[in-house]
Amino acid sequence: MSEHKSNPVRLSDYLPPDYAVDHVDLVFELSPRDARVTSRLTVRRNGDHARPLWLDGDELRLESVAIDGETLASERFEVDERGMSIPDVPGAFELTVVNRVDPVDNTALDGLYQSSGNFCTQCEPEGFRRITFFPDRPDVLSRYRVTLIADREECPVLLSNGNPVDQRDLGDGRHQAVWEDPHPKPSYLFALVAGKLEAIHDRFTTASGREVELGIYVEPHNIDRCDHAMRSLIKSMRWDEDTYGREYDLDVFNIVAVDDFNMGAMENKGLNIFNSKFILARAETATDADYDGIESVVAHEYFHNWSGNRVTCRDWFQLSLKEGFTVFRDQEFSSDVGSAAVKRIEEVNLLRQVQFAEDAGPQAHPVQPKEYEQINNFYTATVYNKGAEVVRMWRNLLGWDRFRAGSDRYFERFDGQAVTIEDFIETMAEQADFDTAQFRRWYDRAGTPIVHVSKTQANGEVRVTFEQEVPAVAGQEDRDPFLMPMRVAAFDGRGKPLPLDESGTAEKTLVLRESRTSFTFPVAEDIDRVVLSLNRGFTAPVKIEHDYDADDLALLARADSDEFNRWDAYQRLVIKTLVDRIRQARETGECSDEELPEGLSAAFGSLLHAAGGDSDARFVAECLTMPSEPYIAEQFERDVPVDAIHQARVRLREQLANEWSQSLMLVYEKQEVDGSYEYNGEDVGRRALRAQALACLNALDHPAWRRLAVEQIASTDNMTERFNALSALCVRESEERDQALEQFARDWADDPLVMDKWLSLRARIVAPDDTDTLAELEAHPAFSIRNPNRVRSLVGVFSRANPVAFHAASGSGYRWVADKIIEIDGFNPQISARLATVFSRWRRYDGARADLMTEQMQRMLDRPDCSTDLAEIVGKALR
Ligand code: PHE
Ligand code: ZN
Repeated sequence: MSEHKSNPVRLSDYLPPDYAVDHVDLVFELSPRDARVTSRLTVRRNGDHARPLWLDGDELRLESVAIDGETLASERFEVDERGMSIPDVPGAFELTVVNRVDPVDNTALDGLYQSSGNFCTQCEPEGFRRITFFPDRPDVLSRYRVTLIADREECPVLLSNGNPVDQRDLGDGRHQAVWEDPHPKPSYLFALVAGKLEAIHDRFTTASGREVELGIYVEPHNIDRCDHAMRSLIKSMRWDEDTYGREYDLDVFNIVAVDDFNMGAMENKGLNIFNSKFILARAETATDADYDGIESVVAHEYFHNWSGNRVTCRDWFQLSLKEGFTVFRDQEFSSDVGSAAVKRIEEVNLLRQVQFAEDAGPQAHPVQPKEYEQINNFYTATVYNKGAEVVRMWRNLLGWDRFRAGSDRYFERFDGQAVTIEDFIETMAEQADFDTAQFRRWYDRAGTPIVHVSKTQANGEVRVTFEQEVPAVAGQEDRDPFLMPMRVAAFDGRGKPLPLDESGTAEKTLVLRESRTSFTFPVAEDIDRVVLSLNRGFTAPVKIEHDYDADDLALLARADSDEFNRWDAYQRLVIKTLVDRIRQARETGECSDEELPEGLSAAFGSLLHAAGGDSDARFVAECLTMPSEPYIAEQFERDVPVDAIHQARVRLREQLANEWSQSLMLVYEKQEVDGSYEYNGEDVGRRALRAQALACLNALDHPAWRRLAVEQIASTDNMTERFNALSALCVRESEERDQALEQFARDWADDPLVMDKWLSLRARIVAPDDTDTLAELEAHPAFSIRNPNRVRSLVGVFSRANPVAFHAASGSGYRWVADKIIEIDGFNPQISARLATVFSRWRRYDGARADLMTEQMQRMLDRPDCSTDLAEIVGKALR
C-alpha cells in the first residue's frame, strides 16, 4: 500500500488571516541560478490574539529575517518545508525577509522560472510562496511596489504589475525598473517578467477618458504574430465597457507570451502572462481555431480585471466565483463578436464531453468544492464550465437587465475585497422576485441532474411532465430537486411551431423546482403529432431523457427554430443510429452492416442543401461534425465497446459520404474562399464547412478525394486550409497521407506551435500496439517532455482522442501513458496529475481493461516520491 495519507483542506475550517499585510516592497536581483529577493512587509495584527505570524514558503533559501530593522537570531523563528513561523511579534511592524531562489531549476513552472531564457512568474494559486515567504492566501490584500534589477544586456525588458514609476541604469552593467500597483491585491496576482523581448504597442481611451498604453511582449522572432491578440484586447476592453460598464484602471496593460506555461494564461494585475499558443497568430501558421482561442482567452484574462482582481476570492473554495463568472463573460463576448449558435454548440460540446464525464466519475465535485488536497487539481471543467452555466442560469432566471443590475451591485459592494460565492448569490438574489434559496444546490452538489420528460395528449390538451432524477454521488445524502430554467417549444408533424397558450406564444421558459412538474397547453384536435423542443439553447446544464423516435429527431433537425436544438437533434439522431447499431451487433454477435437509415440520410442531405443557401456555413459544419468517440462512449455506462464505437463511427461516415458524395463535392467547391486569408465570420464558416466536406469525402477510399486534399495543401496561403486538408487525409491510411505528414514536418520543423498540430495529428492516428511509432514520436526533435504544450499535443491527445490505441486490449497504451506520467511527475506535478485524470473512469470499461488501468494507476501511486497532486487524482480514482 502506498504512503499517501490524505490530509485535506476543508472549507468548514476557514479562519480569517491572523495578520494583514498592507504594503509589500519587493526587490529582485535577478540571476538564473541564484535570484535574490528582498521583501519588506508592513504587517498588522488582525484582531486580539497572540498567535505567531505564519508565512508560507516552499523551496526557498532563507538568508535573513528582521523585524523593524533588527535581524532575528535563528531561535526567534522556525522554518520547515511548508514555511516560517515567528512567535511574539508586535501588533504592527515591518518585516524584512531576504531569500534566494533558483529559476533555472524550477521545472514545475510555478513561482519564478525561466522560459526560453527569459524570467517569468506564475503565482496562482500558491506559487508566490515559491518566490518569497508570505501569507500566501487570497484574502490577504496588499499594495505592491516592485524593484527589478538585472543585467542590461540579458534583460533589457523589466516588467511587473501596475504602473512604471522609474527606470535607471546602475552603472555596473545592470539596470533597474520600479513598478507600483495602487490596487490592493492578493499575492496570486503578483507577476514579473524580465528578458529579451520585443513589443507591439497600441492605445486605448476608456469611457471616462483614461489613456491606457497597451503592450504585447514576445520573443523577437514572433513580433509579426501579435496583431490579432492586440485587436482582441481592444475589442474586449470596449465590450466590457459597453456590456458591463467596467473600465480599465491603470495607465498600462501589458501581455507577455511565454512558451512554457502550465495553463492557458494568467490574469496578473496589469501584466497578463500567456501561453504563447493563445497570443501568436498569423495566417501562415495559425488556424481559425487558434484565432478563436486567442480572442476568447485574451478576453477572459482581461475580464478578470473586474471579475477576479478588483473583486477576488476569499479562499480557493470560491474559485468559481471568479472563474465561472469570467468564463460566462468571455462566452458572451465571443457570442457577440461571432456566431452565437456556433459558440453555444461549442460550449455545450465541451460541457457534455468533459464536465459531464468528470461529474459522473471519481473526480466529481461541486462548483464550490468542500475540500481538497491540492488546489491545483480543482481548475476543472466543473469549476470553470459548469460554474459558467450556473451564472448563465442566473442571467436566464433574472433576465439581462436585472442580472446586469446585480452585477453592478456586486462590483460596487465588494470592490477591493476578497469575497465568497455566498456574497455573489446574495447580491443576485436581491434582484429576484422569486425565492432563490433552492438555487444554492447548483453550487453545493456534484453530479449532472437528469430530467425525464414525458408527454400525453388528450381532450385538446398536451400535458408535458418533467421529472428530475438527481444522481447518486458518494457523500451526498439528499436527492432533492434543483431549481432550473427550462426553455421549451413544440412543433406539429410538418414542423410548424405550435402556440403554447391562448396568446400564441411559441416558446416558454418554465422554472422547474419540484421533482415532478407538469405543464399543459391546448392543441387543436386535428393535430395528431406533437414534437417537443426541450431545453432550448441549453438553458439548464442537465441531461434530457425523452422518448424521441428517429422521425421526431429528423423533424427537429430540419425545422426547429432554435439553432442549438436543431444541431442537438441532429447529433442525437446520429448517436441513436450508432448506439442502436452497436447494441445490435453486440446481441447478434456480428457487425451489422445495415442500410443507412433514411431519416438520417435525408437530414444529412438537407444540411448539405442548406449549405447551398444562405444558411450559416459554420453552423452547418458543426452539424456535419460527427460526435467524438469519447462522447459516444459516454452513452455506455459499463463495458464501453471501444472498438465497436470506432468501427461504427467510421462505417456511418463512409455510408453518408457514399450516398452524398456529389453534394459534398459541390459544397466543397462552392465554399472556396476567394482572395487571401482573412479571419472573419463568413470566411471562417466557409473554411469549416469545406473541411467537413473534404474529411467526409476522404472517408471513402478513392484517389480523387485524396488528390483534392493534396492540392489544397499545395495551393493554400494559410494554415487553416493546409491543416484541414492534412486532417482530411488522416481519416484513413494512404500513401498520400504519409507523404503529406512527412512534408509538413519538414516544412514546419522550426515552428513549435505548428509542430504541436502535427504531433496531435500523429497521436490521433497511432494504431493500437504500435509502440514503435510512439517511441519515434517521443524521440522526435519536435517533442519535449518538459514543455506542457508538447506533452498535451502528444500524450494528452493520444490518451483522449485515440481511444482504440489508448485502450488497446494488451494494455500497451495505458503503459506508455503511465510511463510518461511518472516521468513528468518527477518535475511538473500539475501536468502529471492532469494527464492522469484520463484513467479515472476505469470502472466503465470491461474487467480486463479495468484491471490494466488500475494496475497502471497503482504503479503511479506506489512510488515514494509520487507528488501529492498525482496522489490525490489517482487515490480518488482507485478508492
Ligand atoms: N486563472 C487562470 C485563468 O483562468 C488560470 C490559471 C490557473 C493559470 C492557475 C495558471 C495557473 O485565467
Ligand atoms: Zn480565469
